Amino acid sequence: MKFFIDTANLSDIAEAQALGVLDGVTTNPSLMAKEGVTGSDAILAHYKKICELVEGDVSAEVISTDYEGMIKEGEALAALHPQIVVKLPMIANGVKACKYFSDKGIRTNVTLVFSVGQALLAAKAGAAYVSPFLGRLDDISTDGLHLVKEIRHVYDNYNFETQILSASVRNTMHVINCAKIGSDVMTGPLSSITGLLKHPLTDSGLAKFLEDYKKGNG
Ligand code: E4P
Repeated sequence: MKFFIDTANLSDIAEAQALGVLDGVTTNPSLMAKEGVTGSDAILAHYKKICELVEGDVSAEVISTDYEGMIKEGEALAALHPQIVVKLPMIANGVKACKYFSDKGIRTNVTLVFSVGQALLAAKAGAAYVSPFLGRLDDISTDGLHLVKEIRHVYDNYNFETQILSASVRNTMHVINCAKIGSDVMTGPLSSITGLLKHPLTDSGLAKFLEDYKKGNG
């Protein structure tokens, strides 16, 4: 399973990259705003910086909701850097734009997906990635992982090439469960990745090894 980090924070991205396990980055307008990145020039420059920090795909989301606007914005984003994947919302114009970009060989990530039907539409429109938001479903007492499982089943039935990018991942158990059910990618905050490191037996075992080494070696 690929690990993407879901942030626009450059130091979090650099930390995940330094760990050697990062495969890409996802962002969204809220995450950009959280970092204080505003105005189209600054936003484009920030995406460039992210692309220079990592080797993998970087999802950059359009703001427009009309078809022409999405195409214009998506083309500008795609022209920025070869690692950019154009992120489009799951609305009718987003599906149309997805088809337009996939026909042109520009990769897309269809976002804000909350049902199998929406995931089916994204795959049929040629999306490179589909983003089911499992954490937001969990937030409203609906099983987010079950949705990912159902999308996996449907995509496997027809060998769709669209990769399932489990999004809105909030914690390490989300990551582990995504891997168990065969999600192609997960995207979450830095803590959902570094949290996987933690085990008290690793810490106590290492402390004992070092203590014993010291005893024998001074
Ligand atoms: C996906 O690409 C979104 O950026 C993201 O995963 C949303 O996560 P949230 O529900 O934690 O905001």
